[in-house]
Amino acid sequence: MGLPARSARGAPGRAGWAGRTGRAGRAGRAGRAAGAAGAAGFGFERWGGGFFCENAAGGVSVAPEGEGRGGGAADLCRVAAEARRGAEGWGGPLLLTFPQIAAARARALRGSFASAAARYGYAGRHFAVFPLKASHDRPTLLHLLGKAAPAPTSAEGGSGAAISGLEVGSKAELVAAAALLSRESGHPESEAGGGQMLPLLVCNGAKDADYLDLAARVADSGLAEVFVVLESLEEVTLGATHLRPKPGGALRLGLRARLDTFHAGHFGATSGPRSQFGLGPAEIWRSLEILRRRGSGELFGSLRMLHFHIGSSVPDIRVVKRALREAACLYAECCHAGAPMGWLDVGGGLGVDFGGGGVNYDVDNYANDVVAAVQDICRRKGLTPPALITESGTAVVAHSSVLVAPAHAHRSAMGVADDDESALPGGLGSEIVARSSGEADFLLGTFEEVLRDVSPGRMRESLTDALQLRSEASSLFALGAMTLEQRAAADVHFQRILERVRELGASAGGGGGLEAMSPEVAEILGAEAPFMTLELSVFQSAIDAWGLGQRFPVVPLQRLREEPEIWARLADVTCDSDGRMCSSVGWSAGRAEDCPRGARVHRVAPGEDYQVGIFMVGAYQRAMGSAHNLFGRPLSASVAVDEAGCPTILEVRGGASVEEALAAASSAYSGDLDALTRRDPALGAALGGIRAASTYPTLGGRGTLT
Ligand SMILES: Cc1ncc(COP(=O)(O)O)c(C=O)c1O
Repeated sequence: MGLPARSARGAPGRAGWAGRTGRAGRAGRAGRAAGAAGAAGFGFERWGGGFFCENAAGGVSVAPEGEGRGGGAADLCRVAAEARRGAEGWGGPLLLTFPQIAAARARALRGSFASAAARYGYAGRHFAVFPLKASHDRPTLLHLLGKAAPAPTSAEGGSGAAISGLEVGSKAELVAAAALLSRESGHPESEAGGGQMLPLLVCNGAKDADYLDLAARVADSGLAEVFVVLESLEEVTLGATHLRPKPGGALRLGLRARLDTFHAGHFGATSGPRSQFGLGPAEIWRSLEILRRRGSGELFGSLRMLHFHIGSSVPDIRVVKRALREAACLYAECCHAGAPMGWLDVGGGLGVDFGGGGVNYDVDNYANDVVAAVQDICRRKGLTPPALITESGTAVVAHSSVLVAPAHAHRSAMGVADDDESALPGGLGSEIVARSSGEADFLLGTFEEVLRDVSPGRMRESLTDALQLRSEASSLFALGAMTLEQRAAADVHFQRILERVRELGASAGGGGGLEAMSPEVAEILGAEAPFMTLELSVFQSAIDAWGLGQRFPVVPLQRLREEPEIWARLADVTCDSDGRMCSSVGWSAGRAEDCPRGARVHRVAPGEDYQVGIFMVGAYQRAMGSAHNLFGRPLSASVAVDEAGCPTILEVRGGASVEEALAAASSAYSGDLDALTRRDPALGAALGGIRAASTYPTLGGRGTLT
């Protein structure tokens, strides 16, 4: 292991990749030098994919080409400082995206499928398309498509495309895809597909007539082999009315299957027979009938693909296997019904370990099982194995972004119990002056006893006593039997007991010690962890932490040579009580499932420049907040209703047009579209008509079922 000698300018050493060296503490720092479970406990090796590691300066290095693949490495704080300088010192959160990481991940996926095909003697090819909704980051998309300038330089990866095309889920994404695909490439050979094939463009999502027309025009323009995936009987009927695919042309049809297979992951509720997406068995049967009967055979003759997607991040490989077998059988039935088929699109769902476990397979395992399942069914049914399309998003881009946030001690919760007693009424640390009821005196006396008796064998008892006493103090105060000074003293005692237990845990086992404690103790300490304030909005930048309880790896970007002394809950700067991240991952000791709440951080002095990185936020996090599927903001109106029930529209705020949604994703899309229009005026005119339209599809009135 270890990166080759070539290093990035001024990059600090590579303790993490080059073998772990001694862990001397940094001179002048109060913190303890990191022990054996110190920085290593951040679990880079578990989740970092070979792209991140601790460096010799106690920071975190990024090697975007991946460990041992011939690229350079740079310190993240330094990269962040460069980026901020470029933005004239702009503060707040900074999302760093490394397109090379996405390309390396896509190449690894492709390599796994190539190995699996060789292993099982699979005759069909594999094509990885990238789902635009996972990231609209234009440099990343251009990198993946092999159209970036300068060209990607990975010694191992080559300079061509790392993917075979794109998947889109809306009109606006279709326009963006057309803009990206139309860009000149310095290396037109489609490396990922092999040969001179056009890129693939898979059109998913709710479709209206405009969407279908646009997809047909993109196919006519020769930009891509377009698969229009019909997802409901209504879409099948609309497609049958609107689309006129030519035999052997670039416009092909697909059907999206709703599988019975379901899973228990974050998105499991949307899988299985109750999912809102796709066609069940009876609907597939009916769709085949509609397509066969309509037109003069060209519709049925263009039915080339079966698609399914059972949700993002499938945690269990057995579910993947089950889904593949079910889908392969449906595929075989379509073939037996006479459709030409030839392609099976297995969607996304390839799970990624964010460091907390929960995914029981890796990319090789996934590729092997996909290929083996399809091979087996095709052999048994006497069919030529189809070309396989994957739509992996998370697995390709999750690692590629790091959210860098300046961090500060949260004054309301940190330091109350330690040296900052002047901030408390009456110098509470020294002497508690009881001025009221005997109950209050008794309670404070008991609190002191519990504090005195904290010991390694009594950590759990001390904590449960402390919790009980705190709640009694609260009751006494509410009954008027305790002064504010006494109530504050009870809080200080409570904090000191917690602090004492934390210290005992830290000396019993490294890394803050929580892993050495009983789960109950870790649970209480986690729930009572102090806050650290991060300059970010969880809702905007890490929405899955809020919405799904997703645990992201959180790592300080400096001082890793010192033991991080505390576990802290991370509060954002929004004024919402749920604007916080109470969990993170980072264990290397194989006990990530016991991960307590919070993140491991250092004590931060006032004014200290301290930043934390929230890793693996490359998929969906940026897009979900306001640009999901590039829908942009919706139309909104403020309304008053008078006594007679008559509404008055006070203000209407416009929704986003396709053009605005694209501009929000990247100002460069507009230039791409202008260039496309110069090259292909007919397609440009069609795209121009859509650019001013609303991003949302116009559903309903789609014709009746036949
Ligand atoms: C149709 C479709 N394909 C692919 C994906 C990407 O899934 P993942 O990020 O799990 O790879 C999604 C995500 O929701 C999707 O809806």
